[in-house]
Amino acid sequence: MTKTVTTTPYTDQKPGTSGLRKKVPVFQQQNYAENFIQSIFDSLEGFAGKTLVIGGDGRFYNREVIQIAIKMAAANGFGRVLVGRGGILSTPAASHVIRKYEAFGGIVLSASHNPGGPTEDFGIKYNIGNGGPAPEKVTDAIYAHTKTITTYKIADVADVNLDAEGEQDVAGMTVQVINPVSDYAELMETLFDFPAIRAHLAGGFRIVFDAMSAVTGPYAKEILENRLGAAKGSVLNFVPLPDFGGHHPDPNLVHARALYEEMMGDDAPDFGAASDGDGDRNLIIGKGIFVTPSDSLAMLAANATLAPGYAKGLAGIARSMPTSGAADRVAEKLGIGIYETPTGWKFFGNLLDAGLATICGEESAGTGSSHVREKDGLWAVLLWLNILAVRKESVIDIAREHWTTYGRNYYSRHDYEEVDSAAANGLMDALRAQLGTLPGRKLGDLVIETADDFSYHDPVDQSVSNNQGIRILFVGGSRVVFRLSGTGTSGATLRVYIERFEPDAAKHDVDTQVALADLIEAADTLAGIKERTGRTEPTVIT
Ligand code: G1P
Ligand code: ZN
Repeated sequence: MTKTVTTTPYTDQKPGTSGLRKKVPVFQQQNYAENFIQSIFDSLEGFAGKTLVIGGDGRFYNREVIQIAIKMAAANGFGRVLVGRGGILSTPAASHVIRKYEAFGGIVLSASHNPGGPTEDFGIKYNIGNGGPAPEKVTDAIYAHTKTITTYKIADVADVNLDAEGEQDVAGMTVQVINPVSDYAELMETLFDFPAIRAHLAGGFRIVFDAMSAVTGPYAKEILENRLGAAKGSVLNFVPLPDFGGHHPDPNLVHARALYEEMMGDDAPDFGAASDGDGDRNLIIGKGIFVTPSDSLAMLAANATLAPGYAKGLAGIARSMPTSGAADRVAEKLGIGIYETPTGWKFFGNLLDAGLATICGEESAGTGSSHVREKDGLWAVLLWLNILAVRKESVIDIAREHWTTYGRNYYSRHDYEEVDSAAANGLMDALRAQLGTLPGRKLGDLVIETADDFSYHDPVDQSVSNNQGIRILFVGGSRVVFRLSGTGTSGATLRVYIERFEPDAAKHDVDTQVALADLIEAADTLAGIKERTGRTEPTVIT
């Protein structure tokens, strides 16, 4: 019932920041997905008879690859596969299911916030037994196998029925189709004060959540409307669609513009939020105020003990290097550890496993905690709702008070998408070549204090990750960071992260782009962005 198929390697299966991401037609090449999945299995040991979790964000090609992965898991000797009904599992729900059922690992099919459809993006990511993305030593091993693969194993059986919950046999392996929402919803009930949130909503607190036609729809419907009693219709675009309705399921000010406009209007609800394609990112907007993800991390950490799951306090906070320093000030005040990691959630796994950090976040709308090993969009929404229900203040008042206490880190990211790869690499190389001469250099009123290419020394396993982004720090705590995206699927994406620290509360009401104007100009002067990329302005400003 199982067969061994001869194949030849593809040369482009190197996993990026978050697994292997390519356009659907690339994945549709003969044996492309099979090669990568077999390479995952070939780099693992000791999974015979164990459980594998499989699920995805429902995007185009999800069901096809799920069938392949199940049949290959059977042929490679797994004992059981847990798969979400309809092939659906949000990324944080997959992480939870892996942990809860003590699975060996999981395969998560998603390209996160990238568009979906026949010519858009698809992705395959492997998560290890702690529920988190595989660390670099595993992804490096997977890549090595993709370069030498000669055969893969697959069960020669009919497709599994993904739409009926319960157990089925696939070539001697058990496939259990599970409810994709219930385990996750139960976990949320253990972390947050559902009765307090329910009472707050019943008292007239109005929310809107945009699921962006992506995977969080069923989760948000069940938790926000059914369990917490938010008004019917509070969850928008809640049916996951293979092409996300033709939109980018990316919860930022560009792709969730309608939500933003609504929240800035006179009759805005009290709280607005959105999540991305696979449910791990979040956008938080209060009535009249967008909360940057960096600020959200700091504000959530500062108020976390108001939620039952965090009442005992936080062990520490971790943030990716490009994320603003707002969380650092909270950690300092709380007297807890603060960890600065490279971009990508996988770097938080060790800190969470070792109990060094409880809450983690990235500027790219990712926030999460030790409850799973992925970032978690709905978790962030629920922690905000818990805090709002207890404090009974508006988001804007909570933000203003936070800035008054800690100072405000004005923050923005400028992305230049689909830039010519050679031009982007040239820009980074030229910056790197200048690093030694930058300290002391003046750009208008700005004086460069230090400049480096970020290296991370993992305090848990002592591994070192070099070349993680160029940091230019100015006297007074302002900063510009340059790095190239590791998740793009065509050309290169240059990300420029700009941050200004403003301790004076009298200056906390300035438009962000205005507050950052001189730093934005300095970034162009230092890197020659316009000249090298030919772009006069960023593709996306968040
Ligand atoms: C981007 C974000 C990063 C996030 C990753 C996966 O990676 O910047 O914070 O972890 O997506 O969601 P990048 O494209 O910058 O490599
Ligand atoms: Zn995502």
